[in-house]
This record gives sequence, structure tokens and C-alpha cells, in this order.
Amino acid sequence: MKPEAAKRQIRAIKGVRDILPPESALWNRVEQTARDVFATYGYGEIRLPIFEETELFARSVGAETDIVNKEMYSVVDSPLAALERDRIWLLKRLAENISDGRKRLHFGLNVDTFYGFVKDAARKGAFAVDENEEELDILCSIVLSTESWPTTREETRPTEAEWSAYATNLRDVLARLNFGAEMSLRPEATASVCRAYIEHGMHTLPGDVKLYYIGPMFRRERPQKGRYRQFYQIGAEVLGQSAAPAIDAEVIEMLMAFFDRVGLTGCALHLNSIGCRDCRPKYVESLREALLKVKDKLGPNSQRRIETNPLRVLDSKLPEEQAMIEKLPRIGEHLCAACREHFAALQEQLKLRGIAYEINWRLVRGLDYYMRTTFEIIAPGLGAQNAVCGGGRYDGLVELLGGPPTKGIGFAIGTDRVVLSLQESGKVAAAPGLDVFIAWMSAAAYRAAVKLARRLRGEGFSVELPAEEMKLKKSLGLADKLGARYAVILGENEVASGRFTVKRLADASQRELGEAELIEFLRSKP
Ligand code: HAM
Repeated sequence: MKPEAAKRQIRAIKGVRDILPPESALWNRVEQTARDVFATYGYGEIRLPIFEETELFARSVGAETDIVNKEMYSVVDSPLAALERDRIWLLKRLAENISDGRKRLHFGLNVDTFYGFVKDAARKGAFAVDENEEELDILCSIVLSTESWPTTREETRPTEAEWSAYATNLRDVLARLNFGAEMSLRPEATASVCRAYIEHGMHTLPGDVKLYYIGPMFRRERPQKGRYRQFYQIGAEVLGQSAAPAIDAEVIEMLMAFFDRVGLTGCALHLNSIGCRDCRPKYVESLREALLKVKDKLGPNSQRRIETNPLRVLDSKLPEEQAMIEKLPRIGEHLCAACREHFAALQEQLKLRGIAYEINWRLVRGLDYYMRTTFEIIAPGLGAQNAVCGGGRYDGLVELLGGPPTKGIGFAIGTDRVVLSLQESGKVAAAPGLDVFIAWMSAAAYRAAVKLARRLRGEGFSVELPAEEMKLKKSLGLADKLGARYAVILGENEVASGRFTVKRLADASQRELGEAELIEFLRSKP
């Protein structure tokens, strides 16, 4: 490594950040509030892995969503990464239609080498041979079929017919070879909760399964205020047999209780129903038709979405598209009878609980698994990224992942944004500061100071004990800078008398106290 490179300062990767004290104390308070509130509603914590098979997210969030399509951090399990890279390279070369005879021969040699590596990896047990048994046999026969090909000079072999059969068979077997799954850092956790629900047979548990999770998620989005590539969520999910609107309402009630307890005021609950498998496709078609009529007036993103996902046009924030969007057909007018009833009953349930909401017909959410209820919480002071929570119902997702028929609903709170909004509101209580700074002088005093620090910490006070001896003036200066409430002065005299000089740093008032009196005194002066 060049000396300049060695000196280069390494910084955190774009879009990720450190959360430092005292801000981390606020994070802890927010997370603890969630734990406390969720426990009163009977939720238990689930701790999930941070990475999962990519397919889990592709199947649940949706392979065509931005989250899965553009924003996931994915890797192939390392011992097989090279094989997987080669497999993909060979497939790409085949797709290029190699026409030159010499290049075909060379390609054949690459395939031979690849087969050698595959056999070697199989021998070492690096991937599931039984899952690939047939493919390995076919690959072997394909490789053997090239034995009659010359290896160096271009001749008439392989003939056009030989090459075409070879390429077709090879393409087919390469596509089927499975060296193990690609993994992704989780962009969200609902999919993992459903995977765990199935894996642990939780459908046999009594009543609804109520779970919450707290932790980081990863999306490769364009970083800005309130949007990070590693961000944090506090989420909760209810899984079970019932889709009763009262469940939706209680989930929302719990969420609002959390926001209330955490002190985030001025939040608005936006609510919508996006229908079910029966009524939504018909609505999407009528939306697409209406969009096609105004296509020329829409921007390129919305134009593209007419084909890929017309619902996402409703998310557009472009000022020039707003008037047009307001005139589009609305899902509320296209719900089937069952969805309409569910939505009406949910609203009754919310009223029963005194929860205010606004219906936002444009709230369609960016994940594929939702049906019927969707909601978001919008918080003040956050600019463009002002959704502090998103959630909704996802009946059928567990089934889609291979589990039993199951209903589900949940939400995820964006912790980064909650913390930002609390900070913007200026109502953040200062983190509890340092109680005592022990200013010690002399080796004998240090021994007494160590004992005193332990005793005070044992009583629950926060104590700073300097590791090295300092002059009294310097000690008191440092105590002041650290924001200590009291300095306890310990010199030879104090050790001899067993009484400490206690100085209140706010007004420099002093008193002498024994150890037990000191503890009483600290306790009585919060
Ligand atoms: P989501 O709307 O993708 O839903 O994310 C939920 C919340 O996470 C957002 O409202 C936002 O506060 C926060 N968030 C998302 N992306 C970022 C980011 N890049 N930086 C900072 N904060 C962000 C879900 O994730 C669903 N799993 C929610 C759910 C649970 N639905 C049912 N159950």
C-alpha cells in the first residue's frame, strides 16, 4: 500500500451514519417507549436475521418494486461466488451468439474448465449435489460431446448443427444449476416475520401471533434528510386467522399510543383501502385507461408507470401532474362489497377509539403485499421525507411464501425520522448528566476514590473517576466541562478523616459529608 493510501482517512459509507451520545439516549428512549407500549397490547419481541435469501423479498415485497429491483444489497454466499460468476458469464457469452469457429473452440475450453471447478466444489460438498444431480450428469455429457472438437485450429468442427445443439443444451443446464441462494440485506422485516412464522409453525399457537422487532434495514436510496441507506425501524405484526377490522383498529390504536407516549405531537394518520385480488385489478385497468388518455401531459416516470405499475403514478409529487391526478378514478369507488364493508367497519372502530384520521385515496404504498387497509403517519418538521410510519394488511402473504392460509397486518415506524421530528420540535428532554466527579490527589486518596466510585455507582449514580492524578484546579475545570452536578474532593486529609468535601458545581457551595451522608445527600438533590 502506498504511504498516502495508508494515511487516507476512512469515513462512513455514503448514506450510513453513526449515532452518538447524547442523541443515542433519545434513540433508546424511543425504542424503550415502543417496548413498553407494545407489551401492554400483548406483543412479544422477535429478533430476526439481518440477511435472508433474496427470493424472500422478491416474492413478498415484489420483484418489480423499486425496493427489490433497485435498492437491495445482495451477495452470493462467498465460496460459490466465483462459480456463480462463471455460470453467469457463460450464459452471457452464449447469449452473444458466438459465430467465429476459433471463439467457439475457446468457449468450449472455458466450459471444460468450469465443469472441472464444479466437480471440485461438489466433491468438497460446497453445494447441494442432490439438488443438482441431473444437471451435473447433463453437464458431464455436454463436456464429453466436445471431445471430438479440435482444440487449437479452426476446422469444420464443431459443425453448425453440433454447435447449435451444444449451445441449446448448455444454456438450458446452466440456467438450471443452483449453487445456493443469493442473499440480501433486509430492506424491511415483514417478509422475515412471515418466513419465521412458517418456519416455526406459529400458526399452531393459541390466538393471534403478535410480534414486534427493532433494528436496521438497508435500501440503496438517494440519501437526503430523513432518508438513509441504513435506517432503523420499529415494527409490529399480527398474524392469525381473523381479518376483523377491530384488529386493524387496535394495531392503529397501539401505534397512536406510542406516538402519544413518545411525545411526537401534530402527527396525522392517513388511511386508505386498496381493495383485494378481486376488485383491485379492475380498478388498475380503469386507472390505466384514464392515464393513457392524458399520457402526453405526464412526465417520463409516470408515463413508464402506466405500463409497469399505474398505482404508483398516484405517488407523484410533480406539481404539473397534480391537477391531472386529482381527476383520475379513485379506488374507493371501485371496491367490492366485502372490501367496502371492511373499510367502513374499520372507520367505525377507529371512531369508537377516538382516533382521528384522514382518508387519502392516493395512499397506495410501494410494496406489493398489501391488500385492503393501508395507512401512513405524517409528522411535522421533516420536509419531503415526512412519513414516520407505514403499514397495512397483507392477508395471503404467508400463503405466498409456502405457509398455511393466514391473515396479517402490521406497520413499521422509521426511528430515524421519529428522532429527527422530536429534535425539530425542540421538546427533547436533556439526557441525564453526570452526577459526581471524583477529584482525587495522592495514591492513598486514589484507593479510597476507587472504593467510593464503586459504592456510588452501585447506588445508581453516574460517576467519573479520572484515571490519572490531576491538580485540583484542573480536576474541577474538567468536572465543570463534563457537566457534573457535584465534585467530591478526596485528598490526604479527607482519607484520614473519612469525610469528603462535596462541591456543588453550579454555585461552588461546599460541605463535608461522610459516605452514608453523601449518598443520602445525592439522593435528596436530584
Ligand atoms: P415502508 O413504508 O417501506 O414499510 O417503511 C416504513 C417506514 O420506514 C417509513 O414510513 C419510513 O419512516 C421508514 N423508512 C423507509 N425507508 C427509509 C429510509 N431510506 N431512510 C429512513 N427511513 C426510512 C415497510 O417497511 C413495511 N414493512 C411496513 C409494514 C409492516 N407493513 C406491514 N407490516
